[in-house]
Amino acid sequence: MKILVTGGLGFIGSHTVVELQNEGFDVIAIDNLSNSSIDVLDGIERITGKKPLFENIDLRDKSTVQNFFSKYQDISGVIHFAASKAVGESVENPLLYYENNINSLVYLLQELQKKTEAHFIFSSSCTVYGQAEKMPITENAPIQTAMSPYGNTKQIGEEIITDVAKVTNINSILLRYFNPIGAHPSAEIGELPLGVPQNLVPFITQTAFGLREKLSVFGSDYPTSDGTAIRDYIHVVDLAKAHVIALQRLLKKQNSEKVETFNLGTGTGSSVLEVITAFEKVSNQKLNYQIVGRREGDVIEAYANTDKANTVLGWKAKSTLEEALASAWKWEQKIRK
Ligand code: WQD
Repeated sequence: MKILVTGGLGFIGSHTVVELQNEGFDVIAIDNLSNSSIDVLDGIERITGKKPLFENIDLRDKSTVQNFFSKYQDISGVIHFAASKAVGESVENPLLYYENNINSLVYLLQELQKKTEAHFIFSSSCTVYGQAEKMPITENAPIQTAMSPYGNTKQIGEEIITDVAKVTNINSILLRYFNPIGAHPSAEIGELPLGVPQNLVPFITQTAFGLREKLSVFGSDYPTSDGTAIRDYIHVVDLAKAHVIALQRLLKKQNSEKVETFNLGTGTGSSVLEVITAFEKVSNQKLNYQIVGRREGDVIEAYANTDKANTVLGWKAKSTLEEALASAWKWEQKIRK
């Protein structure tokens, strides 16, 4: 069975390609390399011994997508990661996000609807919940008005998939990630943020390595235990494994609805200061940080109710925060050597 992984050289995509290959799937990875490196292919091969098929494809071009699907008629499932994902950038450049994240999805689905049956896994985000009223967050928590064009593209993406499912043979699973962190334990693949990292953990590891002078902690006046914001940090390998399980669920026709939704988190919330403390413990070094003002658009807290993923998918995150941070640190040290 050939599985298409779009954004397959990206952070979560590459880790999912590894887990798919580990399960014996034949993978074709596509990526336009706008936020990833072709070297990731070698990293995947060093882990699994198999280099996935790869094509440099930009999903924003409709004819490119059509040509790709006429060339590869034997694709049994698609895991769709390819998208722009920087919240701040999406505010500055909304059309880049609507064109990339929405048009690509439409062109992909237009090809899948031609198949007798199609299985589609969509990379969504807990961002769709905004600041949820109740913690931990369940899948039926209300979708709130998006706080950024990035978050809006995820909400719109879910709506498009739901509308299309009603009139096509496309079965889909929407996976709402909380905060993916860490790297493959082999340190052969990991997160490769371009430029100044937007996300907390790569900023921490770059600061610890001496690439950044200090970490700015965005706000310590939140109504939380220590005043800093709370998130659910999940190891990227745990997240990748969930994608394989979700795909197998569709391939085996075990899905109960044409569109199913799952929150993917650990179920535990950690504050920024707790992440810093955990990192200092695993790296055995003090982290240079400074408390500054809140970042626009941040929610106070978000962590997942994982009951549905645990019981229906039969999946549970295994790695602790410390293990995830240790893998991120090992990766940072490896790539800087
Ligand atoms: C985590 C916490 C920050 C950087 C975003 C997207 C989400 C997903 C993951 C794509 C927050 C604080 C951060 C820093 C800090 N992306 N922080 N100093 O904002 O929860 O989620 O990334 O799918 O969709 O919304 O992640 O890592 O940016 O921030 O204090 O230099 O760390 O305020 O509380 P976030 P993050």
